[in-house]
Amino acid sequence: MTEDIKTRMIKVYIMGREYEVPEGLTIMKAMEYAGYRFIRGAGCRAGFCGACGTIFRKKDEYKFRTALACQTPAEDGMYLTELPFVPANKAEYELEELTSEPSIIVSLYPEIARCVSCNTCTKACPQDLQVMDYIQASLRGDINQAAELSFDCLQCGLCAARCPADIVHYHVGQLARRVYGKYVLPRSQHLKERNDEIKAGAFDQEMEKLTAMGLEQLKKLYTERDIEK
Ligand code: FES
Repeated sequence: MTEDIKTRMIKVYIMGREYEVPEGLTIMKAMEYAGYRFIRGAGCRAGFCGACGTIFRKKDEYKFRTALACQTPAEDGMYLTELPFVPANKAEYELEELTSEPSIIVSLYPEIARCVSCNTCTKACPQDLQVMDYIQASLRGDINQAAELSFDCLQCGLCAARCPADIVHYHVGQLARRVYGKYVLPRSQHLKERNDEIKAGAFDQEMEKLTAMGLEQLKKLYTERDIEK
């Protein structure tokens, strides 16, 4: 017996306009169902790239919420707006010219001293990172902790979009991780060895073979490759 399964439709408001979309879609898919095409604001579609920052409000709520559109289910009565880009300032620096001095982060991002400890950044983070804590660590000059606490940042920018002190947390965390990687962590010996091999041309022949292959052949090679257990 075939069961007649009817899809339940929900109402969402995208950029202020009402649409009916099937229940169970993510915000991103609901927007596409409604006819929006993502030119910016979508990348991996899997919660990794941070391109799909979204601001929304739920039915009968006053609270502004933030999320990743590709990871968050659309709900009935949701009002939503996609943020294709957060126009936050980013300090200019040459990593090669920096040091791991404790004051390095505050010298490039002095606005972190304005943090009022409201924790809005932490509440805005779709990754549930302790954003305010890594800003405080940056202010104290604790680069290791700032790098560690911001390690899973996707650079979506939602923290900065909500900050009353105009701090650009995600760029601050990125700087901490860069300084930590370059000046604090020990050099990776196996990476150096592999780089030397590449420079010496150890993989040139293999690369030439790959670039000469057609798409189907490449796909076959990829699906049949040895996968590390
Ligand atoms: S599209 Fe990459 S995190 Fe959503």
